[in-house]
Amino acid sequence: MTALAIIGCGFVADLYMASLAKHANLSVVRVFDRDPARLSAFAAHWRLDKADTLDGLLAGLPKGCIILNLTNPHAHYEVSKACLAAGFHVYSEKPLAMDLDQARDLHALAARQGVLLASAPCSVLGEAAQVLAGAVRDGVAGRPRLVYAELDDGFIPQAPYEDWRSASGAPWPYGDEFRVGCTLEHAGYYLTWLVAMFGPVVRVVAASAELVEAKPGGGGASDFSVAVLFFADGVVARLTCSIIAPHDHRIRVIGDKGVLAVRRAWDNAAKVRFHRRLRLRRRLIDLPVGRRIRPRGATHPKVARTGAAAMNFALGPAEMAASLAEGRPCRLSADFALHLTEVTLAIQNSGDHSDAQVMTTSCEKPEAMSWLA
Ligand SMILES: NC(=O)c1ccc[n+]([C@@H]2O[C@H](COP(=O)([O-])OP(=O)(O)OC[C@H]3O[C@@H](n4cnc5c(N)ncnc54)[C@H](O)[C@@H]3O)[C@@H](O)[C@H]2O)c1
Repeated sequence: MTALAIIGCGFVADLYMASLAKHANLSVVRVFDRDPARLSAFAAHWRLDKADTLDGLLAGLPKGCIILNLTNPHAHYEVSKACLAAGFHVYSEKPLAMDLDQARDLHALAARQGVLLASAPCSVLGEAAQVLAGAVRDGVAGRPRLVYAELDDGFIPQAPYEDWRSASGAPWPYGDEFRVGCTLEHAGYYLTWLVAMFGPVVRVVAASAELVEAKPGGGGASDFSVAVLFFADGVVARLTCSIIAPHDHRIRVIGDKGVLAVRRAWDNAAKVRFHRRLRLRRRLIDLPVGRRIRPRGATHPKVARTGAAAMNFALGPAEMAASLAEGRPCRLSADFALHLTEVTLAIQNSGDHSDAQVMTTSCEKPEAMSWLA
C-alpha cells in the first residue's frame, strides 16, 4: 500500500478521488486546503482525515508518501517546493510551475533530495495514447511525417460554466482557468503523447493571442495558440489550443502509408484507427473508415465520464508508486516534466512576434507500459 496526501481539495481533486478508488494499492492518508470550508466539504464527502495547516500535514505524513499537488497553477511552485524540501515525492498538476526558472528550481531540489517529481497530465500512460504510440513504433502508418493535434474546446467564454460543480460541490474555477490560459492548462494533454512518440522538442515556432478580452473573473492570458514543433526524431507537429474554435480534440499522425487517428484526447478508451492511403484510378484518398487498432489484452482501470473527461487521473500517481516499489525509473520523470514545461511556456508566451525558440531542456521518451507488450 502506498500512502498519498492531497493538497488542494477543489474541482479536480474530486476527479482524482474517483480515479484513486480504482487503485486498491493507493491510499489517501490526509488532505489539506488553505480554504477551510472547501477542506471540510471535501474531507466530509470522501471521509478523509484533514490537516489544518500545510506544516501540520507535512509533519504527520509517513516516509515515502507521494503528495499530490492539486492547487491552482500559481500556487504549484511554493507548494511543491515545501513538499520536496520536507523529503516527499511530488506529483503536481500541470503546469509544474508558471515560469521556467521555478520549474528548474523544483527539478534541482527533487534531485538533491533524492525524491520523485512528476507532473500531470498522465493520459500518456493511458490506453489510447499507448496504443497510438505502439502503432507508430510498429510502423503501421509507415514513416510518420507530420502530426496535427487539436485541443480546441469550443467557445468556453459563452458556456454555462457557472453551473459546473464537482462531486463534493467545488465550482469550476473559471476565473483561474481564464487567467492561466488554455495553453498552460491543456497543451500538455497532447505534448506528452507527442514526446512519448517522437522524443524531445528541439525548436518551437509559435504564436498566441487573447481573442476575447475581459472574461469574467479574469483575463490577460492567451485563449488561442498554435505551434509548430520540431522533434528530435525529425517529425513536425502542429499543436493548437483554444477555448474559441469549435470543439475538436483529434490527433492525426500522418505517415507514408496513411493516417493514425484518435478523436478524443480526454478519453483513455478512445479508439485508435488507421486510415490506409490508396490510389483509386486517378485519385489519392485516405480511407474515411479506419481499421481499429486494439490493445492486445487488459490495460488499466477506466473511470466513467465526468463532465468533459473520461480519464483515470490516478495513472500518474500509480506509476510513481510502482516505480518506487520496483526500484526502477518512473516513466513520468522529472526531466519529462521540466521539458513539457519549457515547451508549453514557449507556446504560451509566444504572442504575435516570436522567432523560433530553441529548447534548452530534453528528456527520454517514457517507456511503453508493460501491458502493451
Ligand atoms: N478543473 C478541471 O477540470 C481540471 C482538470 C484537470 C486538471 N486541472 C488542474 O488541477 C489544478 C487545480 O484545478 P482545480 O480546477 O481543482 O482548481 P480549484 O480552484 O477548484 O481547486 C484548487 C484548490 O487549491 C486550493 N489552494 C490554492 N492554493 C493553495 C495553497 N497554497 N495551499 C493549499 N491549498 C491551496 C484552493 O483553495 C482550491 O480549493 C490546476 O493545476 C488545474 O490545471 C483542473
